[in-house]
Amino acid sequence: MSDPILSLNKATVTFGGVRALDDLSFDVNRQEIVGVIGPNGAGKTTLFNSLVGLQKLRSGTITLDGVVVSDRKPHQIAALGMTKTFQNTSLFPDMDVLGNVTTAGLLHHPLAEARDKAADILDRMRLTPIARAGIDALTFPQRALIEMARAMATNPRVLLLDEVMAALTPSEMDEVMETARQLRADGLTILVVEHHMRAIMSLCDRIVVVSFGRKIAEGTPDQIAADPAVIEAYLGSSAKEKEVQHA
Ligand SMILES: Nc1ncnc2c1ncn2[C@@H]1O[C@H](COP(=O)(O)OP(=O)(O)O)[C@@H](O)[C@H]1O
Ligand SMILES: [Mg+2]
Repeated sequence: MSDPILSLNKATVTFGGVRALDDLSFDVNRQEIVGVIGPNGAGKTTLFNSLVGLQKLRSGTITLDGVVVSDRKPHQIAALGMTKTFQNTSLFPDMDVLGNVTTAGLLHHPLAEARDKAADILDRMRLTPIARAGIDALTFPQRALIEMARAMATNPRVLLLDEVMAALTPSEMDEVMETARQLRADGLTILVVEHHMRAIMSLCDRIVVVSFGRKIAEGTPDQIAADPAVIEAYLGSSAKEKEVQHA
């Protein structure tokens, strides 16, 4: 049975004449892992920015657990329980891992509580062995996990993963995906934007495909992989280019 914690209802964002999101509607159910895919320029970044309040909608609404959040400010949306990861350039190189995760929680907790909370998150994510490591000493998958841990420090019920696996090898991705699955088992709902199709297909329960700001398909990974509209959106233009080159 569906039990949406997050709903987009005809969300539209325009930049001049470009409709970056165009009447986009979909739901995310509690403890679901949903992937959003689409070609470059499809509107994925605009979608995530809209969800966390960094981008205003022109029309439509976004609802988090029954509360309309599309008119709220980023810190209010974070307090209501939806947070996105930031690129690891936002890690503080002069602090250890525990310090970095603690800092991320300071907006929501006093220092002592933020430190306890950070230690607890690192424990849940099996990162306690590197709690005192410096950022420079981390491997790429560890950096991805620390980005997730920093987002977790704000107590999200819905976590948005913004290309956290970009720099990873397949086996490193497996490590990150295992942690994501574990967080979901603990109650988290996860929305993922990721270019690695293999990771999306193996991690997500359901996938939403966007192209030019519109939803062109939605379904299980198997349904999406077999959908002619998806194949056209991804392969259409490059297949045509190849035809032209060979003509
Ligand atoms: N700040 C902006 N100003 C003008 N156009 C933008 C801006 N951000 C995104 N766009 C346009 O909106 C569309 C969607 O972009 P984006 O959300 O970045 O797509 P994606 O993340 O899927 O590659 C593109 O046509 C892009 O050029
Ligand atoms: Mg983008």
